[in-house]
Order: sequence, then C-alpha cells, then structure tokens
Amino acid sequence: MNLNTNRLLLRPWRQEDADALYKYASDPAVGPACGWVPHRNREESRRIILTVLNGEHTFALVLKETQEPVGCASLFRGAVCAEQDLELGYWLGRPLWGQGLMTEAARRLVKYGFSQLECPRIWCAHAVSNARSRRIIEKLRFRQEFLREEVAPAIGERRLIYYYSRFREEERRGEG
Ligand SMILES: CC(C)(COP(=O)(O)OP(=O)(O)OC[C@H]1O[C@@H](n2cnc3c(N)ncnc32)[C@H](O)[C@@H]1OP(=O)(O)O)[C@@H](O)C(=O)NCCC(=O)NCCS
Repeated sequence: MNLNTNRLLLRPWRQEDADALYKYASDPAVGPACGWVPHRNREESRRIILTVLNGEHTFALVLKETQEPVGCASLFRGAVCAEQDLELGYWLGRPLWGQGLMTEAARRLVKYGFSQLECPRIWCAHAVSNARSRRIIEKLRFRQEFLREEVAPAIGERRLIYYYSRFREEERRGEG
C-alpha cells in the first residue's frame, strides 16, 4: 500500500533503501529520541529493513523531489493500545527538519488509520523534552492523556513520556 501527500510518497521499505536509511538513522539526533540506538553500519540498516521496518503499516517517507527515503512513519500496536487501537511513531532525517514534512506525513497516516484501517483510537507519545514532536501532535489535535516514566531498554534510559490519543469519532466530527 502506498500513500501520497503533496511532497511525500509513503511506501514500504525496500532493501535498496539501506544506504539512505544508514545516512539518516546513524545520526545520534534521531534514534535515541525514539528509543533506539543510532545505526552503526549499512549492514545493520539492511537488517533492520528486513526485521523491524517490515511491519504492515510501516512506511518509508520518500521525498518526491529527490526520490530519496528520508524518514519513517508507522502505526503499530503500542504498549498502551487496547485491542483495536494503534500508536503512531515517526522520525525524519535531520537535514529535512523544520519544513513541516512530518506534520504532512503524520496527518496522512492518521487519516489512513481512521479511514482505511477503521481504527477506533490512535495513540501518540513523546518524551517531555521533545518539543518538536509535541508540536506535531498538537497540530494533529490529539488530546493529552497521561504522563508516565518509561525505560527505553535499547538506550538504557529512564524518561518521562507524555501520551496522547484521538478517537475516530472526534476526527469524523471534526472536533478538537
Ligand atoms: C520530531 C520530528 C519528526 C519533527 O519533524 P519536522 O518535519 O521537523 O516537523 P514539522 O516541521 O512538521 O513540525 C515541527 C514543529 O515543531 C516546531 N519546532 C521546531 N523546533 C522547535 C523547538 N525547539 N521547540 C518547540 N517547537 C519547535 C516547528 O516550528 C513546527 O511547528 P510549527 O509548524 O507550528 O511551526 C524530527 O525532529 C525528528 O525526527 N526528530 C528525531 C526523532 C523523534 O523525535 N521522533 C519522534 C519521537 S516521539
């Protein structure tokens, strides 16, 4: 399944994306904010494409202008999700930050989750310190639900995480 926005094509990851993935996912400003360790080499990126980024609703964000995969966004069964809920997660290569690209991608994925997957409730979370991610979630009109302390095992860090959610009914009625 492919999804489109003005500037992005959202499509499944492919093995040949490994170089681009390594280029952006080896940046220490990206992975730890999502709870994972920066990629150490291209081989690791290739393996992650096959084992982690192969989820049913996990998309490479391909910049239409250059055809390069520059980020990732996914809907997955997160720790706080009830049976049919999904959680939204995302990251973008640092050179592309600040152009509204992730808001564009996240908005499309939320629409996909509610309309095509008929998901009743979508969750989203960010570390208290992650003001950029917070802003995206606010723009998507998610409601703040609770704050909890979590350990990200891969990076061995204890962090305060804000959780947010939005119901399909709220989206349908244009509320929020
Ligand atoms: C979070 C991330 C995806 C943002 O991507 P992006 O494409 O730059 O986001 P957007 O441009 O769509 O929106 C960012 C918003 O944050 C605002 N912003 C930027 N820097 C900020 C800061 N230091 N403090 C507060 N807000 C900030 C921007 O102005 C923008 O809001 P606006 O549209 O109202 O002006 C990107 O920084 C990233 O990948 N970070 C590392 C991984 C990560 O944190 N993933 C999320 C884990 S919860």
